[in-house]
Amino acid sequence: MTETLESIAKAMVAPGKGILAADESSGTIKKRFDAINVASTEENRRDYREMLFRTEEAMKNYISGVILYDETIRQKAKDGTPLVDLIKKSGSIPGIKVDAGAKPMAGFPGETITEGLDGLDDRLAEYYKLGARFAKWRAVIDISPVIPTNACIEANAEALARYAALCQKNGIVPIVEPEVLMDGDHTADRCFEVTEATLRALFNRLALHNVKLEGTILKPNMVVSGKKCAKQAGIQEVAEKTIAVFKRTVPAAIPGIVFLSGGQSDEDATAHLNAMNAIGGLPWALSFSYGRALQAAPQKAWSGKAENVAAGQRAFAHRAKMNSLAALGKWKAELEKAA
Ligand code: 13P
Repeated sequence: MTETLESIAKAMVAPGKGILAADESSGTIKKRFDAINVASTEENRRDYREMLFRTEEAMKNYISGVILYDETIRQKAKDGTPLVDLIKKSGSIPGIKVDAGAKPMAGFPGETITEGLDGLDDRLAEYYKLGARFAKWRAVIDISPVIPTNACIEANAEALARYAALCQKNGIVPIVEPEVLMDGDHTADRCFEVTEATLRALFNRLALHNVKLEGTILKPNMVVSGKKCAKQAGIQEVAEKTIAVFKRTVPAAIPGIVFLSGGQSDEDATAHLNAMNAIGGLPWALSFSYGRALQAAPQKAWSGKAENVAAGQRAFAHRAKMNSLAALGKWKAELEKAA
């Protein structure tokens, strides 16, 4: 079959499959390893990623693609096999994070603009040669009583659209990720309002830049209450509000929406996704592109010890399976306890 942007995007959101976001930057993976008392050396990072990518049950059945980082897309497993080949052998698609991070936005205290457009065309061409067929760019929108500003929303949407256009030029499917953060004490309704403005701006800019929606995947936050909000929205409310905001803003030509977990508990991330799919009748596939919600459990089980690799792989396979069921609307809380 000839590979097109559409066929790649469709495969990324195949029924019951989702994405493993293993694209932690050097700073972020150090934070995760600090939490389990593991030194962030190149070897430990390699061993950890190799453990995940060799978890056959998860990779073959539940994981459609893996987001890598500049280090990992070039890294080899202990036996010399490129990590990219491990991923491909399991039937999963290698992807790559290409933004250079969210940096303070001049003139807008407390807000950030994601950088990384300079030289991106050449980097994408190289990543394609290294095996990447999709990419990710994350914009960060924070909420307070006075932010986000329109300037921040528009600047980030413009950068996402320019990134997406460059990806498609290079045969790579862009994952566009405008993350509205769940830090803070705002209500779910305030998250709804900011998410709506953010997505509307994003799809306007994608249209302006002639980005082909059929070859684009959206990676959004869910509409949740801020972590410090006293009155937390329940599972069903989150599901309904999140779908309502997409119906207003996300064109039906987008093949799939894969959520970030954003600091939700593992089980909440699964339950929310399941509740949305249980509603059904939607034009887009709804699945996951979780970092923490797929990796916190295996990280803890592994804790940097070779003798714990099997336990780490069991923990990863379990979370991947639970989220696969949620992507089909077939997850049940009892399945967590049974494990
Ligand atoms: P989390 O699921 O931990 O939010 O990570 C997803 C991701 O890729 C953030 O950019």
